[in-house]
Amino acid sequence: LRYGGERTDLAGRHVVVSAGGTREPLDPVRYLGNRSSGKQGYALAATAAARGARVTLISANAALPDPAGVDVVRVATALELRDAALKAAEDADAVVMAAAVADFRPAVYAAGKIKKVEGVEPAPVALVRNPDVLAELSVRRTRSGQLVVGFAAETDDVLANGRAKLARKGCDLLVVNEVGDGKAFGQDVNEAVVLGADGTETPVPVGPKEALADVVWDLVAERLELLAD
Ligand code: CTP
Ligand code: CA
Repeated sequence: LRYGGERTDLAGRHVVVSAGGTREPLDPVRYLGNRSSGKQGYALAATAAARGARVTLISANAALPDPAGVDVVRVATALELRDAALKAAEDADAVVMAAAVADFRPAVYAAGKIKKVEGVEPAPVALVRNPDVLAELSVRRTRSGQLVVGFAAETDDVLANGRAKLARKGCDLLVVNEVGDGKAFGQDVNEAVVLGADGTETPVPVGPKEALADVVWDLVAERLELLAD
């Protein structure tokens, strides 16, 4: 089974994908991180390349091999990811934010390793907000007609939370995964609903992350063509 193949509907397009999870350093040896493996973002990059796109993959701490024919930009923190994403987005037709971007970073970076002191309670870690890259990209639209796609991992009322998030972020499409009980993180399969700002709702059955990636690119290609008309 080959994903993305045969079609060339993204030929001549530049797409940007972020993948993995950011790490926010606390001191030279420690960071705040998350469980994102990067598999979904890498699948998006590989399928877009297979469909003819020029692809910039902004990779945050993913332990995965570079997909063939893709420009990979490595970043560690949310602030680095933001810089790389805004720069790559300048001439992009579509930006897909599959990365898990840390909402917070330690307020202070300790230049030396934080040491424990016998008989002294550890100090709490103060956090500050990171910029919301997806919301910023959605507002900026560095190129007219540019499509912006977000991802959301939700629990509880997954669709209602997804709709609210889509509106809040201002993106065109939001891929909503239900998480919990070992779903999604680090798995090779994924199940999702893709919500459109135009009111569309596209369910994607459980399947390989490449299959979900192809549905995302179908929806993106469709919308880019409509904009071109
Ligand atoms: N995202 C981003 N910058 C951030 C946080 C999130 O660009 N600082 C992007 C993610 O890449 C993803 C989307 O926003 O595409 C949704 O991430 P999520 O964590 O679900 O959204 P939040 O607004 O952070 O909401 P929550 O409070 O539920 O974490
Ligand atoms: Ca978040």
